[in-house]
Amino acid sequence: MEFFLDTADVDEIREIASWGILDGVTTNPSLIKKSGRDFKTVVAEIASICNGPISAEVTALDTAGMVEQGRALKEELPENVIIKIPCTPEGLAATKILTEDGTKTNVTLVFSAAQALMAAKAGATYVSPFIGRIDDTGADGMALIAEIMNTWDNYNVETKVLAASIRHPTHVLACMQMGAHTVTMPTKTFRQLMSHPLTDKGLAGFMKDWAEVEAAGNA
Ligand code: E4P
Repeated sequence: MEFFLDTADVDEIREIASWGILDGVTTNPSLIKKSGRDFKTVVAEIASICNGPISAEVTALDTAGMVEQGRALKEELPENVIIKIPCTPEGLAATKILTEDGTKTNVTLVFSAAQALMAAKAGATYVSPFIGRIDDTGADGMALIAEIMNTWDNYNVETKVLAASIRHPTHVLACMQMGAHTVTMPTKTFRQLMSHPLTDKGLAGFMKDWAEVEAAGNA
């Protein structure tokens, strides 16, 4: 399973990348706004920190505009940048064209299994169903991941399912059980997943006993 960070904060990306298991980063226009930095500058910096796929989102709403932006981003930004495209009819057409160029894509804002399958048919490298935003409406975001994974089994789809809009570690654990290929999560969730009070307690006990071993001259 791939673990991506969902942020444009380079300090956070550096911290998690230092753990050695960061597989990629997703950004979106809202995360770029939050960073307060120039879009291409910050994406290029992220791409220099993490070798994995870095999603940069197009902002045009028409196919020609999306293709133009996607091609320009591919030309100007490092090799590992992939193009994030909204799941609209125009986005599907742009995905198809960019895929034919040999460009990797991430189709975002997916809220149904039908949308996910259509994006896969257009050649998307990743599809991004948004779990948390579905939960926010009172429905069950994880049910969408289950539906998509079942659909993928039915048709042997190669596109990777990138579970997005993750709100807490339980979302990630459920995605692991369902076989989602990738999750993208905020830094807080990444830290929560690695933290366990019994690890801390166990380590403190070992350190205390080891100090006594050293004091006895037995180290
Ligand atoms: C995915 O690529 C999106 O950037 C992201 O997961 C959206 O999450 P949100 O619903 O927390 O904004």
